[in-house]
Amino acid sequence: MGRRPWDCFHSMITKAALGEIVVGLDIGTTKVCAVVGEVGEDGITVLGVGQVPCRGLRKGIVSNIDHTVHAIKDAIESAQTMAGVEIRTVYAGVAGSHVRAQASDGVAAISGGEVTRADVERVLEGARAIPVDADRQILHVLPREYMVDAQDGIRDPIGMSGVRLSVKVNLITAATSCVQNVIRCAEKCGLTVADVVLSPYASAEAVFSDDEKEIGGAVVDIGGGTTDILLYVDGGIAHASVIPVGGMNITSDIAAGLRTPMAEADRLKRLSGCALGRMVREDEEIEVPGVGGHAPRRAPRRVLSDIIEPRVEEIFCAIRKRIEDTGMLEQLSAGVVLTGGAVLLEGMSEFAEEILGVPVRIGFPTGVRGITQLVHGPQYASGVGLVRYGANALADAHSHARIAAPARIAVAPPSHSMMRMTASAAKKADEAGPAEGPKGSRLWGWIKQAF
Ligand SMILES: Nc1ncnc2c1ncn2[C@@H]1O[C@H](COP(=O)(O)OP(=O)(O)OP(=O)(O)O)[C@@H](O)[C@H]1O
Ligand SMILES: [Mg+2]
Repeated sequence: MGRRPWDCFHSMITKAALGEIVVGLDIGTTKVCAVVGEVGEDGITVLGVGQVPCRGLRKGIVSNIDHTVHAIKDAIESAQTMAGVEIRTVYAGVAGSHVRAQASDGVAAISGGEVTRADVERVLEGARAIPVDADRQILHVLPREYMVDAQDGIRDPIGMSGVRLSVKVNLITAATSCVQNVIRCAEKCGLTVADVVLSPYASAEAVFSDDEKEIGGAVVDIGGGTTDILLYVDGGIAHASVIPVGGMNITSDIAAGLRTPMAEADRLKRLSGCALGRMVREDEEIEVPGVGGHAPRRAPRRVLSDIIEPRVEEIFCAIRKRIEDTGMLEQLSAGVVLTGGAVLLEGMSEFAEEILGVPVRIGFPTGVRGITQLVHGPQYASGVGLVRYGANALADAHSHARIAAPARIAVAPPSHSMMRMTASAAKKADEAGPAEGPKGSRLWGWIKQAF
């Protein structure tokens, strides 16, 4: 299998965006997490992390601007203090059941007999030129395969000879109001949003390897309010969807079942919860704090897992159904990677394997150095993934700066908004005339200003 056009940027990071600060802002249903990374010779170093609880979202969607803005401010402030840098620009995640994936395709003539980056950009532009509901916007344009004349199954067409280039893509769309609310919240904190990224796409960047993407597999991020599913087949994203259930549903079941406050239910879940009742010994006990002044009481731990198990079963059955509906379950040879805070519950991977019938592992964020202990948990997959996504995007922009020429400069970008940035970068490079070295060009100035 070939490499996607932007795969090269992953390895280019070390050369391209050195010394740049990249900040991922994960605005989740239970917490806001800001991760500050520095792109250096040896990859991305985590310099600081700020995490604060947030009550401004419902099921992954901003429902209270003030609460969200406060949480973002606090998270950014602590990340800033820890990292010792001023944060002005962030890559923000977006999730929620408004997110949809739809297939599209595009065709373009190959201008000079050999596919160039400009041809690839043109064919991708064509693929996204389809009617989208007025209240929705395209978040990502994800190529699945290219075709040059009659040859299909091409992953990287650049340099190939032919007259006609076509592409099959998946478009990820989201409700404009939900995306705008994320941007507005960040802007109210004095931040500029460099790009809005589908949260599970970011999580996959951090926990899913290129090999797994190639073989075919799923990343499932079970957070507090939502369960996000992303399927990779043949190295590309084949499906994205969100189920509006998460760890908070388990917590409310415990609160109702054991008649204890939500905060105590969450604590009990984290400390003593188990997804599979049969993994709990009969003689184990827990202490359940009373509600409304009632004295705490002791109960078998099994009672707790009996409450948790049906909800977890419901979540995994819903995941299985979603995957089955796509007809791709058989193609997930690399299995499923579970990430998000809720998968820390004991017995989650075992239970998932039983229901999904494929190998399951828990995904911890990888690909960063520095104070990794602060982001060492599946709940940080999105935050770390946003930094990795941002670093790739910066490397992309730098590579454009390096190869900038008066002619059009473009690379098949990982996202629609990157495409827009690329186009504007190209325009500026056009205005700037023949390119100097990156540091001397006006494009370089633009990049410095933007980031
Ligand atoms: N050790 C643990 N055991 C069980 N559950 C846990 C543990 N740690 C965190 N959780 C649960 O994980 C959930 C939060 O996960 P996460 O931080 O990934 O969500 P989020 O990003 O805020 O929400 P979302 O992605 O749904 O918008 C909460 O329901 C919390 O109770
Ligand atoms: Mg999350």
